[in-house]
Amino acid sequence: MLIKERLLIPGPSQVPPQVNSAMGRPIMGHRSGDFAKFHEQLAQKLKKIFQTENEVVILTGSGTAAMEASVGSVVNPNDPVLCIVTGKFGERFVELARTFKAEVTVLEYEWGSSYDLAEVKRVMAEKQFKLVCATHNETSTGVANNIAFLGKLCKEKGALLLVDAVSSMGGMDIKTDAWNVDLMVTGSQKAFMLPPGLGLVAVSPKALEIINGNDSTNYYLSLKKAKKAQAKWSTPYTPNVSLFYALDEACNMILNEGLETVFSRHQLLARACREAVRALGLTLLAKDEDASYTVTAFCGDVDTEAVRSLMKKKYGFAVAGGQDRLKGKIIRIGHMGYMDIADLLGAITALELALKEVNYPVKLGTGVGAAMEVIYQGGEQK
Ligand SMILES: Cc1ncc(COP(=O)(O)O)c(C=O)c1O
Repeated sequence: MLIKERLLIPGPSQVPPQVNSAMGRPIMGHRSGDFAKFHEQLAQKLKKIFQTENEVVILTGSGTAAMEASVGSVVNPNDPVLCIVTGKFGERFVELARTFKAEVTVLEYEWGSSYDLAEVKRVMAEKQFKLVCATHNETSTGVANNIAFLGKLCKEKGALLLVDAVSSMGGMDIKTDAWNVDLMVTGSQKAFMLPPGLGLVAVSPKALEIINGNDSTNYYLSLKKAKKAQAKWSTPYTPNVSLFYALDEACNMILNEGLETVFSRHQLLARACREAVRALGLTLLAKDEDASYTVTAFCGDVDTEAVRSLMKKKYGFAVAGGQDRLKGKIIRIGHMGYMDIADLLGAITALELALKEVNYPVKLGTGVGAAMEVIYQGGEQK
């Protein structure tokens, strides 16, 4: 039987045909006037999606490259850094800050929870930090953290705020400037609908001042060099020009659909997915008020790995399992970027069929019905 493969892991995500074909355009020299013009126009589009007046630096490298460039460009040995950890990707900030020999304070929360606002406020009142690192959308758990609150605190305390929005930028309403985020990081292979390979960072003037005054040891991943080159719409080293084309096409798609519509589409798919999971008697990891709009994580009294394997082998839907301490315990469905209602309903159908096959008690259609109800109530996609 024909089985179409559909990638519904929380990144990399599905790449639209327009974005794929953009990568086939002839390569231009990255020191040419044509590239500078193209780069400048692309940067304007990125600013709209990041909701910022700050310039967005495009690095050839994955999301972690953008995280490392940010940490390594602002942190000096012994600098006090606060890392707020709500899952696997929050831990990455701790590892990075330690790599650059910062004096790291870690506030760690149960995987599946968001951070405790009052505790962070208390800790920040007791100690002055140079940098605060937080994950907006914790892909390992499907939790979206409150960044607006952190931004306010950091502004009051004069700390820089570095936010990982790798799995949410381009899919969720992220207000870089209104939330006072100094370094807003994302990657190409999630809601931006590109293949992996680009890391993006919006850098505030406050962050740039610190970056320019620092003797960072970063060579390739230097935001100082990247910003200097960007002033002439160039890059310090040879960029992945094909991915720049793809990014431009993806930005066009996002802006043509309209930011509000893109965000509400993600929200609708997330709500439909959550209601389906609930209707199937499975347990959502994140509370409704913390729920990510790009990834849904859940567990249940069932062999999740067997379910995932059936979903992939029999129905072509690739969904993710848990990472680290959640390995083998949860399923994560990515609904980011180039995802529509049919993709989501298909995934829920595959989930139900797989559950039934492993003898989980399910009345077929229960999950899909619940998802359809949300979609029906949510109205037509604009
Ligand atoms: C929230 C988050 N941060 C960071 C990363 C790391 O990005 P990359 O794998 O592109 O280096 C990921 C990737 O899954 C992520 O989801």
